[in-house]
Amino acid sequence: IRSALTDGPLTGKHILVTSGPTHEPIDPVRYIANRSSGAQGTAIAVALRDLGADVSFVTGPADVPAPSGVRVIPVQTAREMQAAVEKALPADVAVFAAAVADWRVASQSGSKIKKQQGKLPVLEFSENPDILAGVSQMSEGRPRLVVGFAAETDDVIAHATAKRARKGCDWIVANDVSPDTGIMGGTENAVTLISERGAEEWPRMGKDEVAQQLAHRIVDYLAKK
Ligand code: CTP
Ligand code: CA
Repeated sequence: IRSALTDGPLTGKHILVTSGPTHEPIDPVRYIANRSSGAQGTAIAVALRDLGADVSFVTGPADVPAPSGVRVIPVQTAREMQAAVEKALPADVAVFAAAVADWRVASQSGSKIKKQQGKLPVLEFSENPDILAGVSQMSEGRPRLVVGFAAETDDVIAHATAKRARKGCDWIVANDVSPDTGIMGGTENAVTLISERGAEEWPRMGKDEVAQQLAHRIVDYLAKK
């Protein structure tokens, strides 16, 4: 049994973490989703909790269980995640580790779509809200530090650097998720931290260690300003 740290370096700080995939229903029995185990986001919530932070953990349907000692807010869809994030704010820091589905099915069916011989369904999509961009660009009450993730399969640093600028977040944790890296679904991660100081490549290490290093960087950042 864990008792909340009353004198950790993040004691008194409220930190919002999004994690896991979102599921966007097609009909009551089918959905589209991104591939995400939730392991990295969960490890980040644990690392922040262990430094004393008050963590709000907004999670889609992940493979790994949500940690104890944090405020768990389960959601299914991107729009539910956005609403939960807005409700959980204000926060000192927000970390967006979720793999949010970019699109939802425009007109989801309330009843199960039946197979029809010789006829294929055609799905139309609508774009989901960009939760990270919305929070990064808040004119009032923006978290002091907004951290996004960028899972890429090529030109990782170029894509992630452009993403940081486009969304307006402070840091991007970028990684190469090409199938041959074994990072998706694995226990290790190899990330590059993109900040105002440029790109900093971290050695490949456990997702828990990535989370702890990131948590310590957050402590340093909050101490500086
Ligand atoms: N993100 C979000 N809301 C969305 C899409 C993404 O909050 N609707 C966040 C993710 O949690 C992540 C960051 O934005 O922190 C980058 O997500 P990513 O999918 O890499 O960026 P996109 O802008 O969607 O670009 P693309 O998928 O085309 O690479
Ligand atoms: Ca995306």
